Amino acid sequence: MAAPRGEFSSRFGFLMAASGSAVGLGNIWGFPTNAASNGGAAFLIAYLILAFALAYPALMAELIIGRYARSNAVTALRKISAGERSRAAAMLVGFIGIITVSLILSFYAIVSGWMIAFFFDPLARIINFDSASRWLTTDAVLRNSIFVVLFMLVTVIIIRAGVKDGIEKWASRLMPSLIIILILLIIYVLTLPGAMEGLRAYLVPDFSRIVEPALVVDAMGQAFFSLSLGVGTMLIYGSYISKEENLPTIGGLVALLDIGIAVLAGLLILPAMYVALANGVEIFDAEGGLIAGPGLIVSVLPALFNTMGSIGVFVALAFFLLMTIASLTSSISMLEVPVAYGVEHHGLERKNAAIIVGSIITIISLIVVFYFDPLFDMVVTFTTEVSQPLLGFSFCIFVAWIWRRNDILQEIKQGSPEAENGLFWKVWPFYVKYICPLAILVVYFQ
Ligand code: PHE
Repeated sequence: MAAPRGEFSSRFGFLMAASGSAVGLGNIWGFPTNAASNGGAAFLIAYLILAFALAYPALMAELIIGRYARSNAVTALRKISAGERSRAAAMLVGFIGIITVSLILSFYAIVSGWMIAFFFDPLARIINFDSASRWLTTDAVLRNSIFVVLFMLVTVIIIRAGVKDGIEKWASRLMPSLIIILILLIIYVLTLPGAMEGLRAYLVPDFSRIVEPALVVDAMGQAFFSLSLGVGTMLIYGSYISKEENLPTIGGLVALLDIGIAVLAGLLILPAMYVALANGVEIFDAEGGLIAGPGLIVSVLPALFNTMGSIGVFVALAFFLLMTIASLTSSISMLEVPVAYGVEHHGLERKNAAIIVGSIITIISLIVVFYFDPLFDMVVTFTTEVSQPLLGFSFCIFVAWIWRRNDILQEIKQGSPEAENGLFWKVWPFYVKYICPLAILVVYFQ
């Protein structure tokens, strides 16, 4: 007999959990660097348009299916499919989503492990433990493996505790801390010489770039990754929302929080890079673009913190704490997807499912650590550029072409009885039916 399903106890709890899933390395690292290398505010504008016009409708599709079916992605997609063939497709899409999100977690855990190592580095330096500091900041298989295991352990512990006592409790503590740390860091960095130059690079648009296909493709990929779409994360979080909640409103709030925090992060990262430049740190790569890859986080910013004198240690601590929190509230949402499937489909106990699935993903992650060079880029590209857009496409197809329209309306009306006459119901069905799948395909084949 399966245990009763979890449910978020409040709107705030859901908002923190879902925005915690959405806000991650993608916002704080990916968005600002993407913006910087794609014409500054031109990217920002393209991103805002795509996020609201395409990603938000896709987010709503997942939340609505989840809350209607009150189950994991595989079961939920089957439940909204009537025919034999669509049920088989449902099984396939749900399953690929589970595999994809597990693979995303396997590379995410490696990067998150770096963030923890760099968080411990200033602590080691405060107590003058120089050899530890060197070990923590030098890329090595042993260091990476230890921190992958540590990060996955914390993720598993939170997921073991369940929806209310694990996900909701921790997201409600961590997300407000993240916002406070982010704002404090922005205020501090903006007072430093060079910061205004960075603001200019971020906020002055180069409109000649806005029509470039590469910019639009990047902005769309960024929006989908950032809102955790296509892989069943938002679906499973949606399945824990109370039937009294107004779905279009809370989905909108999640999108707003996610986009807002990405935009805020740009106010930190780009000014910080130009402050680093003013302090003599190299911030451009060989081609003359801004350094955006791992080098930004593990060498440019630490070099900046080193030039800040004694306060630099605390700025470094705050920054890597911010990155660790952002990672953790995302990783728990990823692990929840296969765990919920294991519990609901295979009758596993949650605690055991968390340990089994967590261990499997840790092993995959360690394999990627050992064979980093070919594997890391391969896993990232396959999951985020191939699998995620195709899954996003499939979710739209399921909602708009396979699921009965009346069932959708009845579901939305729970918690929002007036929905039938509202703007959302006038626009959204058309969007998920035609615009979203078409746009995803166009961008995909670019
Ligand atoms: N949205 C997260 C980020 O921006 C990543 C993520 C992708 C989380 C897919 C869950 C599922 O970093």
